[in-house]
Amino acid sequence: MQEALPPNLSHIHAAVIEAWPEHLAVLQKSIAAFPPEQLLQLDGIADQVLRLVGSDMDRYIEGYRWISRMQLEEELHFRRTGDYRNSTFEQAWEQVYSKPELMGLYMDGLLVSQVLWSNHAQTLLSFTEDFLPRLRPGARILEVGPGHGLGCALAATHSGNFQVEAWDLSDASLRRTQQHLEQLDLADRVTLHQRDATIRLEAGMERFDALVISEVLEHVERPVELLASLAQHLTGEGLLFAGVPANSPAPDHLYLLRDPDEALTLVEDAGFELVAHHFHPCTGYTLERARKVKATVSCVVIGRRGSAGTPT
Ligand SMILES: C[S@@+](CC[C@H](N)C(=O)[O-])C[C@H]1O[C@@H](n2cnc3c(N)ncnc32)[C@H](O)[C@@H]1O
Repeated sequence: MQEALPPNLSHIHAAVIEAWPEHLAVLQKSIAAFPPEQLLQLDGIADQVLRLVGSDMDRYIEGYRWISRMQLEEELHFRRTGDYRNSTFEQAWEQVYSKPELMGLYMDGLLVSQVLWSNHAQTLLSFTEDFLPRLRPGARILEVGPGHGLGCALAATHSGNFQVEAWDLSDASLRRTQQHLEQLDLADRVTLHQRDATIRLEAGMERFDALVISEVLEHVERPVELLASLAQHLTGEGLLFAGVPANSPAPDHLYLLRDPDEALTLVEDAGFELVAHHFHPCTGYTLERARKVKATVSCVVIGRRGSAGTPT
């Protein structure tokens, strides 16, 4: 299978299959979701992932196996109960955010999944191929919840010469973001702050041309409130890239979207006009089947801050 893949993806696939041969079928299904020209675009992102992983491939694959196992356990709970395991920030803090080693493993695994899980990879391609080209050269971008930092890195290396700032509440996550940006020689291109985005800034509010928030809204108890509050940091015509999964159980996922369309409602309820959207079903599913059986769908919503700028 590796012979048919472009070089960087081939390298990552080969390393994962060597460590975890039983995973081959999942990777084959994932690759089948991409036409050849998208595989080449994804290979460019895989190049950045490989540069981040460096000589620590074993550690990153351990993280990838950890999130794959964690996801399966949570999926069993979700199928049994019809709900996510946790619903409050306190639970997520106790079980996930307060554990730096676990957060490190989580972010390592999530980084590798960006090019191995078709829904994550397609979300990234929606970001690089649809969202970033809409921004004016030199645009100021705020990313909330950068985690592994790949989103910041892709924005900072884009030809648009964007200025990037990012906030994350987790010290362990931010250390990964910082370390990864340093490895790519991008540390001076991105400003990082440890900040809980649910806490409204009373003073010193800066304005950005774009807000990027991917795989974060499901981590908070009141995502509409968070998005509406973050909208205040956007310029009048500022653009939003929101990535949020439906039916995607994890111990730190608190807000359950039961259908991809709820992602559109969420963004509209926060006061944004819808500009475009993409629904990416999880590996091995069509969108129709994922909807029917309530499998994970990664939803991308591109919005524009409403002209009134006042959230509902
Ligand atoms: C699942 S990771 C997402 C990483 C990356 N954006 C992606 O799309 O793969 C979620 C990140 O959001 C951060 N986060 C969660 N709640 C947050 C909040 N209220 N304010 C800021 N960051 C938050 C977490 O610490 C973590 O680094």
